[in-house]
Amino acid sequence: MATRPIRMFGDPVLRTRAQEVTEFDAALEHLIDDMLETMDEAGGVGLAANQVGVTKRVFVYDCSHIEEGLRGHIVNPVWEAIGEETQIDQEGCLSIPGVQKDTERFQTVKVSGQDKDGNPVSMVASGLMARCIQHETDHLDGILFLKRLSPELRKEAMAELRNAEWNQEPRG
Ligand code: NI
Repeated sequence: MATRPIRMFGDPVLRTRAQEVTEFDAALEHLIDDMLETMDEAGGVGLAANQVGVTKRVFVYDCSHIEEGLRGHIVNPVWEAIGEETQIDQEGCLSIPGVQKDTERFQTVKVSGQDKDGNPVSMVASGLMARCIQHETDHLDGILFLKRLSPELRKEAMAELRNAEWNQEPRG
């Protein structure tokens, strides 16, 4: 296992829709192992493959501080809301360090997909885990959480981004 560099806001791969996984091979297992290690090192609760520059539909998650065993991966995830209830809480992203904003998400979702061997998996999740599923699946569609903010908070976030130390490449 090894960590991989996390792609930062501005990298086109973060705006790219990832492709369905069709080959459940050693390369996929290797990718998942590396993503778990990368997420752990960065202290995140989730990481999508495009955040390490791979446009395959897979994400890893770790909400085990909330519920034991809530750690793993999902390949080709598809979610649907269970009920209409939403939650608003601070959300951040390893690709946008330092920016955290109240973000509205569904409270409870059901996610279905596959594991690394291609077996079907599904889970019903609420709270942080539900937030994670929605955030990470957005990544796989090339969408960042900034897009889910209210216009006011998005303005705030963009101002913070412009001043962020890690985002100081020259701009013309
Ligand atoms: Ni993210």
